[in-house]
Amino acid sequence: MASPPSTDASAARPPASAVILVVDDDQAQRELLKEDLEREGFTVEVATGGRAGVERVKRGGVDLVVSDVKMPDLDGLDLLREVRAVEPSLCVVIITGFGTIDTAVRAWKLGASDFLTKPFEPERLLVTINNVLAGRELRSENVRLREEVSRRDRLDSIIGRSPAMQEVFDLIRRMAGSPASVLITGDSGTGKELVARAIHAHGPRKARPFVAVNCSAIPETLLESELFGYARGAHSTARTNRQGLFVEADGGTLFLDEIAEMPLALQPKLLRVLQDGEVRPLGTNKVERVDVRVIAATNRDLAAYLREGQFREDLYYRLNVVQIHLPPLRGRSEDVLPLAEHFLARSAAQAGKTLRGFTEDTKKIMLSYTFPGNVRELENMVERAVALAKSELIGPDDLPPVTRERKSQDRLSTAVTQRLTLDQLEREYIERVLDAEGGNKTRAALRLGLDRKTLYRKLEEYAAAPKPGSGGDAPKKTGQ
Ligand SMILES: Nc1ncnc2c1ncn2[C@@H]1O[C@H](COP(=O)(O)OP(=O)(O)OP(=O)(O)O)[C@@H](O)[C@H]1O
Ligand SMILES: [Mg+2]
Repeated sequence: MASPPSTDASAARPPASAVILVVDDDQAQRELLKEDLEREGFTVEVATGGRAGVERVKRGGVDLVVSDVKMPDLDGLDLLREVRAVEPSLCVVIITGFGTIDTAVRAWKLGASDFLTKPFEPERLLVTINNVLAGRELRSENVRLREEVSRRDRLDSIIGRSPAMQEVFDLIRRMAGSPASVLITGDSGTGKELVARAIHAHGPRKARPFVAVNCSAIPETLLESELFGYARGAHSTARTNRQGLFVEADGGTLFLDEIAEMPLALQPKLLRVLQDGEVRPLGTNKVERVDVRVIAATNRDLAAYLREGQFREDLYYRLNVVQIHLPPLRGRSEDVLPLAEHFLARSAAQAGKTLRGFTEDTKKIMLSYTFPGNVRELENMVERAVALAKSELIGPDDLPPVTRERKSQDRLSTAVTQRLTLDQLEREYIERVLDAEGGNKTRAALRLGLDRKTLYRKLEEYAAAPKPGSGGDAPKKTGQ
């Protein structure tokens, strides 16, 4: 790069040495500093004033600035302010006149690395510069270490410090490249979908579609045409040909969520795609070839479904070539705080709030809470706390009341002392689960082992009936 007129690129440049920019409007002083520093092996450039100094810094490659304060065009403090706006990590040493404590204090506040008071010995200047540069190395080493640790604790947006999650990360990386089917198991809210997406994103199919389908959310009659497509006239509403999700996911990944709810009648068709890579749209004899990687997930005990004859064994083995299990959050407490910090940073940014973290009490409460709704519950909890928080630290009051309940108290004995009826207990439980699922009725129904219709009916009944008091008032019947 050509040297600008206001700076003077030094001739002898020991390759590994730091580049120091000397900014001073006094030519004699400038030359003196340059000589002293070059003698020590530094590469020195000079600028004749504050403005020229800022311009030189903007072009990059400067490790440290030594600047006088009094300069006609732009003084040393303004230079400091401007260069730190461009390069916040740049070290700046300010040279002040005798007895200007005030300037020194202002320099500190603006982020000067150190300052020297005129007159000073060349030796003093060298010690200062070496200290500042050593401090910089240490700082960048700290940043690097912190980054490395946080890299180890996450894979994309999946956070996990626990050994169980580290193992999951390892499996994701190892499995991403292979076309084998993967079965992801784990309770609701443990991150199954997140893991499925990460497997896709880390493999050779990442530029192709990731198509997710929830087998429990689509009525049995529709699921078949959704997955495999249909030809015009295949059924009463089939007015055109319709491409199925398998074809849509061609070359990519199809995520079959809630696979346990896959109707028995459809299972052989699914098996056929997995075995032969062939789909046959409804109402045709034509087969289409597809290349789709299938990742399935369930929060059910699929083995029990096998025993009960609700799930085909051959399909089970096809899907379960590799299994990734996500343990419940309560079994991996190392993950709770990193997850909470992650959700806090995200929600605070979204809400435009400045939040520094959680109080120690809040952390303790989170660490001893059992999180029946797993990571999703923690995520909802932090989002709620961010919305409620009135100070920069999230306190216990910002957490939902459920977390403050005494852990040791056995829920059922409380229910007995409160003389709750079965209906009241049921209502309390249903509402609690719905809360933990962030109000998502489909997921709440799944977790409760209810079909959605039943859950909707119950919720309607609750909405119509005043909430029973937690005391011993006469219970109001809420169900039949
Ligand atoms: N390890 C994690 N790191 C960061 N976020 C996570 C993690 N695990 C889960 N989440 C978040 O929690 C929520 C629930 O995750 P996800 O939808 O993947 O769970 P799931 O196991 O598929 O649940 P369900 O069985 O109810 O469908 C999502 O918002 C997800 O981003
Ligand atoms: Mg899911």
